[in-house]
Amino acid sequence: MGKLVIINHPLIEHKLSIIRNKLTDTKTFRENVNEIGSLVTYEITRDLATKTVEVETPITTTTCLTLAKEVVIVPILRAGLGMVDGIHTVIPTAKIGHIGLYRDENTLLPHEYYVKLPESLELATILVVDPMLATGGSAIVAINKIKQRGGKDIRFVGLVGCPEGVKALREAHPDVDIFLVKQDSHLNDKGYIVPGLGDCGDRLFGTK
Ligand code: PRP
Ligand code: URA
Repeated sequence: MGKLVIINHPLIEHKLSIIRNKLTDTKTFRENVNEIGSLVTYEITRDLATKTVEVETPITTTTCLTLAKEVVIVPILRAGLGMVDGIHTVIPTAKIGHIGLYRDENTLLPHEYYVKLPESLELATILVVDPMLATGGSAIVAINKIKQRGGKDIRFVGLVGCPEGVKALREAHPDVDIFLVKQDSHLNDKGYIVPGLGDCGDRLFGTK
């Protein structure tokens, strides 16, 4: 079974208190989501495989470590975009794929409208990024797509989750590690996480 890691850090808690606040404006919300993206990257990449390389410093030759595998960041549109720059700042060599999904408001089922992924997923470490893990439907469908295209080493990177979404994702994809900064109480009858932070896509892009 993949790991469930809740990333604890005072800076992350501080920024989470800002994005949870309904009075936070769009610009501040977006900045803080991105900054949390950068902060969590340290933890989600902690066990990435490395390989040795010989490097010539200005003084002598020495052995260093570099990443052994390519990293691919795959945001689930739209809200996943909010964390991409923050992660990419820390892993600038990562490729970026996109999966567009929207949740039907009534059924809460995800509908696919866009998929563009790098060609060589087989050997990459793939970070599937979506701030919200609610029913888990969007994450499950996105990871299905990535596996169909050959992806094997997959991590889900979110901000706020809930027991319903974690359970569904772990059942559907037991091989996938899940990283969150908080696991909230539950889903309400409209499929929103409680206490959550509302509709993350709308808050990032100012659409409501
Ligand atoms: C939101 C969020 C996730 C999804 C999570 O997207 O960004 O992708 O809901 O819910 P789930 O776990 O129940 O699938 P939404 O469908 O609202 O689209 P948006 O990002 O374009 O606003
Ligand atoms: N999507 C969101 O943006 N927020 C929720 O609380 C649940 C799904």
